[in-house]
Amino acid sequence: MRSLSHKGVAPVPLLTEGAMIKANELREQLRKEVIGQEKAVEALVQAVVIADLGICDPQRPLGTFLFLGPTGTGKSQLGRSLAKALHGDEKEVLAINCTEFQNPHDVAKLVGAPPGYVGHEHPPFITPEKLAKRFTIIIFEELEKADRTFFDLLLQVLERGEMTTGAGVHLDFTNCFLIMTSNVCAKEVDDINKGVVGFHPPGQKICSLPFDSADVKIQSTCMNAVGNFFSPEFLNRVDEIITFNRLKEEHLMAILNKFLLDTRARLAMVGIGTVIDEQAKRFLIRRGSNVRYGARPLRRALRQLLEFPLAKLVAEQGLDRNQAIHITADEERLSFRVEKLCKGQVIGSVA
Ligand SMILES: Nc1ncnc2c1ncn2[C@@H]1O[C@H](COP(=O)(O)OP(=O)(O)O)[C@@H](O)[C@H]1O
Ligand SMILES: [Mg+2]
Repeated sequence: MRSLSHKGVAPVPLLTEGAMIKANELREQLRKEVIGQEKAVEALVQAVVIADLGICDPQRPLGTFLFLGPTGTGKSQLGRSLAKALHGDEKEVLAINCTEFQNPHDVAKLVGAPPGYVGHEHPPFITPEKLAKRFTIIIFEELEKADRTFFDLLLQVLERGEMTTGAGVHLDFTNCFLIMTSNVCAKEVDDINKGVVGFHPPGQKICSLPFDSADVKIQSTCMNAVGNFFSPEFLNRVDEIITFNRLKEEHLMAILNKFLLDTRARLAMVGIGTVIDEQAKRFLIRRGSNVRYGARPLRRALRQLLEFPLAKLVAEQGLDRNQAIHITADEERLSFRVEKLCKGQVIGSVA
């Protein structure tokens, strides 16, 4: 694996004070958005700093990353959060789902095909205009699903920062950060999460690994799986290969607080004030925790257990301007109580 320092910049260059402040701000913002994935955050921050100083290899993309590991742990989110930090909007990414490139002729969809050729009817995924912005962010999702012909094009991008297709389209990627995510080791990670990795003689009790040992095992299993799946030419051209950590309860709590900020801000916009206590949060974490799917079930729990019943309550009972809904929980369920707002209490404030 090549690290950033192989770009002829060894080690990280001395930063000016301004660049240092910018790096610290970016690090803080990304750490707030993507919880518990320090290694990946740091790798992106370093790449942005180096790109910002303008000392990258001019023949290559600004940074190339392969993100692996358990699902729902922030791999795609980190790409979106980088877009928010650099371009002011999470949606400012070029997201390419590699499941759409499973056949050799699918690559025509990437840059478009000339009239009369297969794929001509599809508008191209990548055009020179889409790559024109400084620090364009491209996320390749589920990279392992793509066909060989797609990898051949990607190799050109990693090696020379350009892609030239059979149809004669030339694209310049030297202005881009490439984030590739892969589920190539999903099955192995899932087995470790279930605590059933390896051969267990019949009747032997299967015991789960402690959390941290499982993380170490996931890391080595992912690296092995990736080494077996992707070619060495490909892996050697990627700047950083990073396995994401599984999310612990403290991470899920921080993610829940982040989700709640959004939910409550949206509710406050339509005049619904909410106060959510600690029991309610713990209840949502209990219901939305699943080590196999990371933070995904948490979002679902929030929607089904909090947002839907809340909407129903407001639709049925209505809510006055000076009222707020207090949300708490017992072992079994969340409960909602309409209360008068205290003097000075702000709608949407954190409980
Ligand atoms: N570490 C994390 N920090 C903040 N949010 C997260 C984290 N992991 C997952 N999420 C949230 O969970 C959902 C799925 O995350 P995503 O990044 O798409 O998963 P994946 O790792 O499978 O790409 C998103 O809504 C995302 O915001
Ligand atoms: Mg993803």
